[in-house]
Amino acid sequence: KVYPDMLTASKTVAQRIATIIKQKTQKGENTILGLATGVTPIAVYNELVRLYREEGLSFKNVVTFNLDEYYPMSPDTLQSYNVFMYKHLFSHVDIDPENVHIPDGALKQDDITAFCLDYEKKITAYGGLDLQILGIGRTGHIGFNEPGSAPNSGTRLVSLDELTRSDAAYDFGGKANVPVKAITMGIGTIFKAREIILMAWNAKKAEIIKKAVEGEISADIPATYLQHSDHVEFVLDTDAASAL
Ligand code: GLP
Repeated sequence: KVYPDMLTASKTVAQRIATIIKQKTQKGENTILGLATGVTPIAVYNELVRLYREEGLSFKNVVTFNLDEYYPMSPDTLQSYNVFMYKHLFSHVDIDPENVHIPDGALKQDDITAFCLDYEKKITAYGGLDLQILGIGRTGHIGFNEPGSAPNSGTRLVSLDELTRSDAAYDFGGKANVPVKAITMGIGTIFKAREIILMAWNAKKAEIIKKAVEGEISADIPATYLQHSDHVEFVLDTDAASAL
């Protein structure tokens, strides 16, 4: 779906999230959300905060799993996805911090495999993700599933692509400060979500969106795997859709 601007598109995505939360809350069930970081979803989070403040949307029955976190990364570092999520969403709504799950960038190397298996188990124990929202990196990564990621991959430690690290350089005050690794949900993890929404704004994303939507399905561009899914929607602004 192509919208004239990212604000209109973001409000539509926030409305979809709100609808799921309301429907599930009415049935007495939790809503299990897969969340993303980066500039792309910020307006969605702003709108969710507005819906909480002005329209009484409650997050009491919402359980969240974030896609990824840099590694190594302490949870209170400014550039951590942990800080990002609290800054843009969790600190402003009534979510129970116990229901928030973000990959732990402060783990000892030896504990990562067990943590990742447990992350998958927890998602399954909650009944799976109702909705996963995604941005897209210029390498075609979703989460931090860089080129070469397998379609059935699970949560794991990965190495970041050089282009991804260059794109993050500004946030870290130079590429040399960008971690070389990250913990990410896998492509397989993402695919299990009952609904997937990938968002992209800006002409900067036009080329990778064209490849993701119209290109040959290949590990070289992990987002192309989404072409296999019948429950994914690409939500774009006109600039991001301009090469389609
Ligand atoms: C990071 C995140 C991705 C995100 C991507 C795009 O690499 N790990 O989940 O989709 O950046 O970021 P942005 O939305 O800032 O363009």
